[in-house]
Amino acid sequence: MTARRDRFLTLRHDQPHVLPSLLAADFGNLEREVRKLEQVGVRCLHLDVMDGCFVPNLTFGLPVLEGLRRLTDLPLDVHLMIRDPMSYIERFYAAGADCLTVHIEAVEQPREILQQIRQLGAASGIALNPDTAITTLDDCLDVCDLVLVMSVPAGFGGQKFHEVALEKLAYLRQRVDDHTLLEVDGGVNATTIERCARAGAQLFVAGSAVFGSDDYGQAIQQLDRLASVS
Ligand code: DX5
Ligand code: ZN
Repeated sequence: MTARRDRFLTLRHDQPHVLPSLLAADFGNLEREVRKLEQVGVRCLHLDVMDGCFVPNLTFGLPVLEGLRRLTDLPLDVHLMIRDPMSYIERFYAAGADCLTVHIEAVEQPREILQQIRQLGAASGIALNPDTAITTLDDCLDVCDLVLVMSVPAGFGGQKFHEVALEKLAYLRQRVDDHTLLEVDGGVNATTIERCARAGAQLFVAGSAVFGSDDYGQAIQQLDRLASVS
């Protein structure tokens, strides 16, 4: 197994993990934000890349990822909300991604791209939106290191949690082995996280619930405690 994929997959141990989504961070003080997260013991950063085409919002791309890679040794979990991700995965890997997640709605041949991500040396992730049927993933689960169940439509932080994510997590928990990480993203907060954990999620992406707090450490600890259901 390659070093970066291996490093990302250490998140299989000591679950659950709360992954802050930097979408809600202060981009005028990115280094300070990252240092604060490191100090409170965060194990991985979630990065939302949006292209204004696959989703109606634009965030950041390769130069910001490269900058973050220089700033921190934390694993970088890169959520690609872009059209035609196959054309970009090599560059995102080169920029420093440890896990690359593509949307099932954006790819025609999911197995091919997931295998390609692993060949590059990153962990392979597939994401699906709340309106997308979970069965669309059936043919590619065996080549996923991570499945990202969206609990809001991809595109914006601060949206309301969609309950359909819970059914999908439970479905996946029955179908994947212990090697596949289940991640939930969107509207994850102190009210919703416990149900996500009970449904089988292991990685919990949180934007507003972390950065909306005056004390990131306390917010993460609280989420972590609520997610520790087993
Ligand atoms: C939405 C992104 C999420 C978002 C989560 O498309 O994938 O990662 O930042 O933000 P909250 O936690 O505020 O819903
Ligand atoms: Zn995300």
